[in-house]
Amino acid sequence: MFLPVKNAGAKGPRPAHSGFSESDWGILASFWHPVALSSEVTDKPWGTTLLDVPVVLYRTPEGVSAARDVCPHRSARLSLGTVRDGRLVCGFHGFEYAADGACTRIPALAADTPIPRKLCLQAYLCQERYGLVWVCLSKVPRAGLPEWPHIEDGSGIVAVVPPGTWNASAARHIENFTDLCHVPFIHTSTFGGPEVVIEPYEVQVDGMKLAFEAPVVERVRYVGEDTGYAQPQLNHAIYRYETILPFSTSVKVHHPEKGTTYRVFDVGSPVTASTTRIFQIVVDEGRTVPAEALIDFTERINGEDLSQVVAQSPQALPLDLRDEIHIPADRMSVEYRRALAALGLGADMAR
Ligand code: FES
Ligand code: CO
Repeated sequence: MFLPVKNAGAKGPRPAHSGFSESDWGILASFWHPVALSSEVTDKPWGTTLLDVPVVLYRTPEGVSAARDVCPHRSARLSLGTVRDGRLVCGFHGFEYAADGACTRIPALAADTPIPRKLCLQAYLCQERYGLVWVCLSKVPRAGLPEWPHIEDGSGIVAVVPPGTWNASAARHIENFTDLCHVPFIHTSTFGGPEVVIEPYEVQVDGMKLAFEAPVVERVRYVGEDTGYAQPQLNHAIYRYETILPFSTSVKVHHPEKGTTYRVFDVGSPVTASTTRIFQIVVDEGRTVPAEALIDFTERINGEDLSQVVAQSPQALPLDLRDEIHIPADRMSVEYRRALAALGLGADMAR
């Protein structure tokens, strides 16, 4: 019911209840993560969560701003407030804050009384790209955003999939996204083809990027009514996956016989250690499939993945390779676990 009398200075950037270890939290906080669609952020403050941290987002003529969604006065949720004249206004007692976090007005304080300097929001780095709002909780990002020119170059139909929230860790989601083995078994109503032996493949590891390419036999059952795909048909495709640490992946799906190319960009945003908001953008380079059909098909695929991934136990991804059994087709998963460990993740046992 009470916080300790001597509590000052005990507050670090990582929330005390966080399911991430101290060290994992610090590493993940140093990366950019998407936290909202651009369309979700308006001049009405919008609250979300990243790495267990409550985050408020709001839009002013200067762009999108992000801050800890806790008012330093009485710890109210700023996402319950408003935006007025470019300032974030707390709905509880009307304190106003500028984008850099500084308190600029306290209605109950006489105008000639100085505002305490300590009265400052924790503002976060924030930027918009690919139709998403990205936040970094650390002052110094360890890496930039993924470079995905195919979303921005205007050459294909771009479909932004409504984000879903999975009760799974971001790392389990990413691993599933790059897992070829599950396709014939899970994706039986969408694109899963016949059971096939997956030939060994190489994974190229280059700094923060892991990539591999493999042939895939698809049987596409549904894309959309007008696309000519309605009847199941076998496609021989080449998939090229590129994962950018920690939780961004793209897959290029190329059908050499038909000359078509689709790309799916996928980012798992770690809301908590066991909850992930999935942001996905699909690009059809041939411009033959309407965006609504691309979204519908992707959501059907996600629904098939979801039932298995949320049931994986533990939800945390084992970074000790001895904890699960691997086959040659799991090369990407093995390299992903190694790369996450090389970042320093999973280094401490204690929470
Ligand atoms: Fe925000 Fe009082 S709690 S102004
Ligand atoms: Co899948």
